[in-house]
Amino acid sequence: MDLGFNWLLIQLNSLNSPQCLAQSLQVPYFAWQPLWVVLIAIFYSKYDTRRTHSVRTAALHDGFSARLRTLLLQEDLEVCSDWVEAKLPPLPGAAGTSVTNLSCVTRVTIPGNVSLCCTWLPGQGAPEDTRYFLFYRYETHTEECPAYTKDKWNRNIECRFSRTQIKPGEIDKLIVIHINGSSQGAAIKPFQQLFNQNAIEKVNIPRNISISLQQNDLLAMWEKPISPFHEECFEYEFYLINLKSGNKQILRIPSNSFRVRVDVGSRFSIRVRANHNLLCRARGLWSDWTETIYVALPPDLPTCPTQQTCKIHSDGKNKVGLP
Ligand SMILES: *[C@@H]1O[C@H](CO)[C@@H](O)[C@H](O)[C@H]1NC(C)=O
Ligand SMILES: *[C@@H]1O[C@H](CO)[C@@H](O)[C@H](O)[C@H]1NC(C)=O
Ligand SMILES: *[C@@H]1O[C@H](CO)[C@@H](O)[C@H](O)[C@H]1NC(C)=O
Ligand SMILES: *[C@@H]1O[C@H](CO)[C@@H](O)[C@H](O)[C@H]1NC(C)=O
Repeated sequence: MDLGFNWLLIQLNSLNSPQCLAQSLQVPYFAWQPLWVVLIAIFYSKYDTRRTHSVRTAALHDGFSARLRTLLLQEDLEVCSDWVEAKLPPLPGAAGTSVTNLSCVTRVTIPGNVSLCCTWLPGQGAPEDTRYFLFYRYETHTEECPAYTKDKWNRNIECRFSRTQIKPGEIDKLIVIHINGSSQGAAIKPFQQLFNQNAIEKVNIPRNISISLQQNDLLAMWEKPISPFHEECFEYEFYLINLKSGNKQILRIPSNSFRVRVDVGSRFSIRVRANHNLLCRARGLWSDWTETIYVALPPDLPTCPTQQTCKIHSDGKNKVGLP
């Protein structure tokens, strides 16, 4: 399907080809060939390549332009051709009809698929009868949204894919979102935005929190969230409220356990949430907090024998206390 993800072709003509430069310097082209570099400037980002083609993913709704020149490098010598330029026009449509405030979130689901949810606002200039359509593209796969949520004028403002072709274990791949629309009253201008898949992943919650008492320390342990990434790839925030003193703390924990000194008669509430640390890939969005676990230690706290763990029982309602 063509989403206007067009190719931009820039031809180097004979006046700015490396061969021409080599000839004007009166050296055989073959001697120079490994040394030329093609410089490409897209918007304001500039990069070098030794190839004669280059693929970059970019949003095209506002048009696009790229410039290219050849650079010949040999020892102290550096010669450049002129720039050549190519442009794609902006995608057609009336001003103010594009969606705004697009935001997307992915999640790794239990069977290891990735779901995608996007929300947006209709453009200020979009007529009430506007219908928006959302597509995502990942690698070469393009798909239209199967399920929309509508606003009070029946305009689509949210889309959910319960599964996508997004690969949960990939790092820094781009998800392209394209939203176009139709209306009797105006031509709706399409909108495109690129998202780094890691940056918009909402991490799953940590699992199976268990609480035990070791000597006079409360020990909380949990398992990493559902994810293709290993345990070392996560960090946690531990939200501890001392219900007696009202003292609240959010602690950043690099591993999946936490120990805190407790006194007889203390009462706590505990919640944990997870994110990727930077060891394996970029951070995503923090997971939701786990459900609150309440811990109440009786005033006659039995002394736990040294080096032994006293299990604290749970009554199944997120409340734990010593038996
Ligand atoms: C929206 O884009 C899709 C994919 O390019 C295209 O098939 C469809 O016709 C477009 N719809 C409108 C209303 O422009
Ligand atoms: C939409 O985005 C604009 C600019 O980024 C912001 O000022 C505005 O508060 C956002 N609106 C909503 C409803 O989020
Ligand atoms: C995603 O779901 C589909 C259908 O439910 C399944 O065939 C596929 O194997 C799943 N993908 C992964 C990576 O588990
Ligand atoms: C986590 O808890 C669930 C349900 O209590 C259990 O089925 C699962 O085996 C536990 N996971 C591990 C790795 O112990």
